[in-house]
Amino acid sequence: MENLILCHPKASSGQDPNQAIVVKCKVPQTIPDDHVLLEVDRFGYSANNVTYQALGEASHFRYFEFHHAPEAEGVSSKTHGVTPVWGFGTIIKSTHPQVHTGERVYGYFAPARYLLLPVSSDVNKYAFFVPRPHLPPDRRPYNQITRCAEDPLYDPSPTAEDLTMLYRPLFWTSFWCEDWLNSSNYKGGSTQIIISSASSKTAFCLAYLIRRRNALQGSSTRRVIGLTSTKNLAFTKRLALYDDVFDYESFDTSLVGNLARGRWIYVDVAGNDALNARVRDHFRVCGDSELATCIALGLTNVSASTIDPLSLGWGSDSETPHTADPKVEHFFMPEWLSIRKQQLSVSAITQMQKEAWTRLMADCGTWGVSLRRVCGPEQVKAAYDEIVRRGLAPEDAFVWTLWGESMEYGSRAKL
Ligand SMILES: NC(=O)c1ccc[n+]([C@@H]2O[C@H](COP(=O)([O-])OP(=O)(O)OC[C@H]3O[C@@H](n4cnc5c(N)ncnc54)[C@H](OP(=O)(O)O)[C@@H]3O)[C@@H](O)[C@H]2O)c1
Repeated sequence: MENLILCHPKASSGQDPNQAIVVKCKVPQTIPDDHVLLEVDRFGYSANNVTYQALGEASHFRYFEFHHAPEAEGVSSKTHGVTPVWGFGTIIKSTHPQVHTGERVYGYFAPARYLLLPVSSDVNKYAFFVPRPHLPPDRRPYNQITRCAEDPLYDPSPTAEDLTMLYRPLFWTSFWCEDWLNSSNYKGGSTQIIISSASSKTAFCLAYLIRRRNALQGSSTRRVIGLTSTKNLAFTKRLALYDDVFDYESFDTSLVGNLARGRWIYVDVAGNDALNARVRDHFRVCGDSELATCIALGLTNVSASTIDPLSLGWGSDSETPHTADPKVEHFFMPEWLSIRKQQLSVSAITQMQKEAWTRLMADCGTWGVSLRRVCGPEQVKAAYDEIVRRGLAPEDAFVWTLWGESMEYGSRAKL
């Protein structure tokens, strides 16, 4: 059996990291003990994955250390990385006594046709885990493989599976980020939240959840402002999730007078140095406002060839900070979740997530995001190249598969 896997040169190899290749290699015929062989049916692809790639070698994130590039002609794990993707698959072989052939699973997979994974002794009816002792323990959510048959959030309909791959990895970041903000009473009572890359799913899900919190608390005083690029302004306004939306060019002339008053939180999803400097400058001179904190959440504006992992959109270490500048906090979902797991029971967390997910699935249909299914290795590579050339449009939600020309759900066509 032949495997296909989407790989990228590592920036450290001196090659262009945006030159994706689909590598052919053999599927192992003998499966070591306590392993599973999966068919990866399909996976979501968004700016989140572009960020995983850009931070693949960054020492704090190490996204290239979840799956390794195969040894093939001109390719090795020394020179190439595999960008993780969230997807659905089916177990076709298992040498673990508690995990069974034929099980449908969801997890943090490689963009491949087949994936061989070790299974730790930590198996329960809801999930099993991939042992990755070389990574910090808080990466556990990435090591979890969810067993769909017992997943309270699982809906086997094809559209529900697609929406799961697209929203689940981002929505939980937005969800736990809002929970984190709420746990500090929005950083000491801030009433204005401004979010960059407002058209991205992570940003608008955060806006959606802040509005939800307002509704639960019976408060309409907390406002959410979106910043986006001119080309995505209309889409972001149509979402109707923000109180105001401004483009990057003109926000500083729009946010004045009454609109600017109060205590602010800036949530940065774009990770753009120049924009962040302008936001800080704006609040330095805005007399009636105070920027309480800047939260680094995403990096939609960087690609693997532009990333400076030391800066992450907040200037280099050598830049002298202004004394009046607020601190910059990095929100990393696994770290906050590991704290919440010490404060809340597993069943309380499960219940919170189930309620939020059910509501999201009921509400997201009106947001104007449409599924773009891309099937086959050449087509997936072409779709990736298009993202490198043009970026990601917010209305396109990608679901990719390295299998056949048509994605026939349930009876997938294989090449
Ligand atoms: N901290 C965490 O734990 C965590 C977890 C999940 C996601 N995130 C991060 O959140 C960010 C958003 O991910 P997503 O999947 O929600 O995004 P998405 O929905 O795919 O976002 C698409 C948006 O990204 C911006 N964009 C796309 N290509 C661009 C390019 N080449 N140059 C500049 N901007 C571009 C545009 O927004 P605008 O025009 O509005 O700028 C575009 O509408 C990612 O950086 C992701 O890594 C962080």
